[in-house]
Amino acid sequence: MKKQWWHGKTAYQIYPKSFFDTNGDGIGDLQGVIRKLDYLKDLGVDIVWLSPCYVSPLADQGYDIADYYAIDPRFGTMEDMDQLLAEAKKRDMYILMDLVVNHCSDEHEWFKKACEDPFGKYGKYFYIEQVKDGKLPCNWRSYFGGPVWEKLPGHDDLYYLHVFHKKQPDLNWENPELREEIYKMMNWWLDRGLAGFRIDAIINIKKALPFKDYPADREDGLCSVHNMLHEAKGVGVFLGEMRDRTFKPHNSFSVGEVFNEKEEELPDFIGDDGYFSSMFDFAETVFGQSGDGWHASSGITPDDYRNCVFATQRKIGQIGYISNIIENHDEPRGVSRYIPEGEATPAAKKMLATVYFLLRGLPWIYQGQEIGMENIKLNSIDEVDDISSIDNYKVALAAGVSEKEALHMIELYGRDNARTPFQWNASENAGFTTGTPWLRVNPNYTQINLAAQKDDPDSIFQYYRALSRLRKDPAYQETLVYGAFIPYLEDHHNVMAYLRRTDDQTILVIANYQTQPQTLPLPGKVNRILLANTGNVSIQNGQIDLEGYQAVVLELGNVIQ
Ligand code: NOJ
Repeated sequence: MKKQWWHGKTAYQIYPKSFFDTNGDGIGDLQGVIRKLDYLKDLGVDIVWLSPCYVSPLADQGYDIADYYAIDPRFGTMEDMDQLLAEAKKRDMYILMDLVVNHCSDEHEWFKKACEDPFGKYGKYFYIEQVKDGKLPCNWRSYFGGPVWEKLPGHDDLYYLHVFHKKQPDLNWENPELREEIYKMMNWWLDRGLAGFRIDAIINIKKALPFKDYPADREDGLCSVHNMLHEAKGVGVFLGEMRDRTFKPHNSFSVGEVFNEKEEELPDFIGDDGYFSSMFDFAETVFGQSGDGWHASSGITPDDYRNCVFATQRKIGQIGYISNIIENHDEPRGVSRYIPEGEATPAAKKMLATVYFLLRGLPWIYQGQEIGMENIKLNSIDEVDDISSIDNYKVALAAGVSEKEALHMIELYGRDNARTPFQWNASENAGFTTGTPWLRVNPNYTQINLAAQKDDPDSIFQYYRALSRLRKDPAYQETLVYGAFIPYLEDHHNVMAYLRRTDDQTILVIANYQTQPQTLPLPGKVNRILLANTGNVSIQNGQIDLEGYQAVVLELGNVIQ
């Protein structure tokens, strides 16, 4: 694997709407991001991905773009964006935007023109089909529920495709003119100083055509889009073209939201000349998911979590560089999901931080993760904003789940969990806004907030800083960034341990993933304790006594393996 400028960096995701509001309208803004750049720098962050802040009706919180060349006034102006790019540059930081090009908004000019003239130039930017006798072109279910076909406004016999929400019409990537528009737009941003993109839902850009039905998998008579994606061939042609026309000439960074990649295609995706610089590991994210909906999902145990993560690490090997996360804006909080209920103490949160952050790959922190933010409790479905949660709630009720259980299901899996405002301090609205926050602040902000942790050497925040510093320490960087990943004690229940190894150095990350203590053998002599999430590290006779949820990072000598 060729070394790249970004391999040793720390990356961070900002969900602008919930990060920091500077104008009191209850919505976070770009000035808020600028205001917090020094905070991020101090945390150790180099690369910042902003979830969408383009002009949008926000039907899917900005993942429905109405103008790719303008900032939504709720987030600020293009001047704010330019200022952000300049301020980031001053601090050696890199800004990424979200590239949402599987679909745009139904309020985008292209779609409006397509409605005016479905058989003209812009009609060909979308998938528009004639419908006879009410029979839709295929029976796919959109990711947010219901059929993927919606009547084209102004035309009774024409329908357009939307694999996500009906306000997110799919763009037709088979059309070279559309592709040119996208590359032009990407280069416009990259020329402006953007360091790259996070690429949204990208596997969906290739459809298996012609449209056809697959066996229905629920009582609604529809089927998951995954049936089609499984059969769709040739996404690489589009992605290779995109790389050559945009990322490559700019030496920019790209990280793909890639679900359903085929293992044999990994080198094509993130190998040395891959379509993307990196892509997220979602193995643990999708674990336990059910095609029937969230209500049928199963939880994930510490052993499952380890097995998922290790499987990815093995699969990637030296092929490329994966991006490691415990949460993002579509997922519940990592500490609420990967630590068994009732056990998410500060020590456990730091343990989870240790075991994912030091894996081989680029570590990402999602806003608020660095202070241990947790899922939010719900009193009623009326408190829920997320369209996906609302759809899954309906699906659950239709399947006979009680309202109480369905609400609890949203507490476990809902996307609002990660979207509640950042908890800056213990003042009203967690210091996020002086106005009324667009989404409820998690009431636990009086305990969990940055101000309470900032200067506490034992805080979760300070621990994340230490992790980032350790990974960048010249004495360990080569091993922690590039060293091989070797599982250790893989069959031990509730243990997550691995070696990071180069010819010259071995580092052991070892964690006790439960409340009861465990004594574990060490694979070599300990040269140095590099980091521990609790004060006492007890090592004797080639063994380590780990307290509940203790995680320790050790530099070893003479390892026999
Ligand atoms: C993935 C994004 O992360 C999610 O928030 C969005 O709803 C869908 N793609 C559609 O763009």
